[in-house]
Amino acid sequence: MTSHRHPRAQFSSKFGLIAAAAGSAIGLGNIWKFPYITGVYGGAAFLFVYLGFILAIGLPVMLSELIIGRKSRRNAFGAFKKLAPGTPWMMIGSFGVAAAFLILSFYGVVAGWSIKYIIFSITNHFHNSTPGEIAQSFNTFIADPLSPLIYQVIFMVLTGAIVIIGVQKGIERYSKVLMPVLLVLIIILDIRAVTLKGAGEGLHFLFNPDFSKLSFEGVLSALGHAFFSLSLGMGTLITYGSYVNKNDNLINTALQVTVADTVIAILAGIAIFPAVFAFNIEPGQGVGLIFITLPNVFMQMPGGHIFSILFFVLLTIAALTSAISILEVVVAYFTEELKIKRQISTIFATALITLLGIICSLSLGIFSDIEIAKRNIFDFLDHISANILLPLGGMFIALFMGWAFGKYRVFREVAHGGKLKGWLLKIFMILVKFVAPLAIFIVFLQGLKILDFITTLFTGK
Ligand code: PHE
Repeated sequence: MTSHRHPRAQFSSKFGLIAAAAGSAIGLGNIWKFPYITGVYGGAAFLFVYLGFILAIGLPVMLSELIIGRKSRRNAFGAFKKLAPGTPWMMIGSFGVAAAFLILSFYGVVAGWSIKYIIFSITNHFHNSTPGEIAQSFNTFIADPLSPLIYQVIFMVLTGAIVIIGVQKGIERYSKVLMPVLLVLIIILDIRAVTLKGAGEGLHFLFNPDFSKLSFEGVLSALGHAFFSLSLGMGTLITYGSYVNKNDNLINTALQVTVADTVIAILAGIAIFPAVFAFNIEPGQGVGLIFITLPNVFMQMPGGHIFSILFFVLLTIAALTSAISILEVVVAYFTEELKIKRQISTIFATALITLLGIICSLSLGIFSDIEIAKRNIFDFLDHISANILLPLGGMFIALFMGWAFGKYRVFREVAHGGKLKGWLLKIFMILVKFVAPLAIFIVFLQGLKILDFITTLFTGK
């Protein structure tokens, strides 16, 4: 091990951490993925299970990641190397780096779609189109062997460039102002959506649960999405926590980020589902849901043209602040563990991820025949990373917090001069020691149909 230490960057203010962590959490996960998987898994029941996971698992794991990051002041891999040297806990960091790679590959593709929709909005492409024609445009676009790649590459280059600029300048500046604007815009969309004729059915779909319809696969996806949406399970918040000041209140940060993330997802759902039913769109149709639904809503709004441009610009920026946090996991690992220069690490990681992303994108068109475990490559990478790697990472992070890090050190990290209530600490310890790991384990066994999965992987049946 080398002994030289480079001074580590720090967030400049308390608001810096909250803005950056919220910027990471709020992204395509809330606005694109949440409505689409809620549609696929049948609506309200999925939403309620998701909310349960956020509270019982997401929140404690988020606090754990921030604590681990701040205590160790290292990247996702180095953190465990420092806090528990010579133990297998370091594996968590490797899962994290792998998950970051896979997630960013398909994330960049969808963010590229969002850039394309800025252009569709500017040229007023959907003017006077029927819902059927709007769907057709989307499906033709994503299956094109070239066009989506251009936008994906643009997005990835932007992401890489911001990461090269560095932690403070790169991350803080962008997230502070724009997320509140996005929130306002979604609320305007909500108002339009719920006043559409036939909106009631959409609200019923989103809020009136029928648990008998929820499959175990749905429960697993709800769990995976709790991790995905909050940016947990792969060390994003360990990495961000490592840039945090000793005086920041980590409990408040975790609470605020979780609430903001969840509220935005639900508001996105309220913008989408009433419109889905009003325009007779199939809620379970998959990855295109928002791209097919929202243009219809914009067309029904005074000034919809401008709103549409603004919306997709902000969605792209929200995706960007999440993407930089994903790339940062890989880059921090390359620079601190492998001692590769920051610029080179970033360029190298971005290039590799973009290549994998190109394959993902093509798997929705010319490569759509290639299937791994009954999924196309895009869905497979999403499934492996969000539903398997992140919860697995989260399970070990919780176990580490509960059993290796321990109550005493947790208290010292978050107590801030004894303000922490004893019962809160107790609940937290019970959650990370038992509840979160057990719940994840059980959902895995049932939802993954683990044995089935291995058989299909090898037999293709
Ligand atoms: N949370 C981000 C979103 O909802 C995605 C993300 C996942 C970011 C994992 C970091 C880590 O869009």
